[in-house]
Amino acid sequence: MKKFLSATFLAATLLLPTTTFAAQDEITLPTVSARSNELTVTQALRQRKSSRNFVDKDLKPAQLSKILWAADGINRADTQKRVNPAAMGVYSVEVYAVTREGIYLYDAENHKLKLIAEGDYRDLTTTGQAFVGKAAVNLVYVENPDAWKNARHTPPPRESQLTSANVTVGAMVQSVALAAQTEGLGNCVRGSINRVEFAKAARLSADKTILLAQSIGKVK
Ligand SMILES: Cc1cc2nc3c(=O)[nH]c(=O)nc-3n(C[C@H](O)[C@H](O)[C@H](O)COP(=O)(O)O)c2cc1C
Repeated sequence: MKKFLSATFLAATLLLPTTTFAAQDEITLPTVSARSNELTVTQALRQRKSSRNFVDKDLKPAQLSKILWAADGINRADTQKRVNPAAMGVYSVEVYAVTREGIYLYDAENHKLKLIAEGDYRDLTTTGQAFVGKAAVNLVYVENPDAWKNARHTPPPRESQLTSANVTVGAMVQSVALAAQTEGLGNCVRGSINRVEFAKAARLSADKTILLAQSIGKVK
């Protein structure tokens, strides 16, 4: 009996996700505000670099909020337009935040994170770079062709839609890099992603394209 119980316990343990942290279904992010002693844009640009020496420590809610807002937040409440430009104002790039607790989708309209999958999937956002699993948050930028259904004008051909999304992602990663710098956090833009496994874990439909990833976190 004892043997059976310990075998069952072991099997159950092996089947559990590796995390012991409970994920919230929804994370409401605090309003973003600049600190009084924040770096100037020129200082942040001078310091911009890729970091790969992360320590596995959670970000403060205000830091997480600022990172997501820099990635895809709304900066003009009257028009609902965002920090980063997008062709024809069609916001076709989704931002997934992959943390120790789970995979979340950023909801720009409500400045919230919505849980997609519970568990630590950070290593699935790389093809093997060890530092990725230690970064507090890994953003994954995904193109969603459905966004063009709401376009006010005739959408451009598919190839141009993808080019536009890649241009937007370039702006997003640089905004995040500068925001991270102002918080004393490191960041690394990454093209090397386990696309097949991440798409499965994040339950991405087949028409979506994973464009880029970015690790953000405290550094040694
Ligand atoms: C599109 C793109 C993809 C990249 N992919 C990776 C990557 O998969 N892994 C990585 O460690 N760095 C990656 N980088 C970061 C570059 O290696 C880095 O920017 C370059 O070496 C210059 O260093 P710096 O950013 O410190 O100036 C990528 C950068 C870009 C723009």
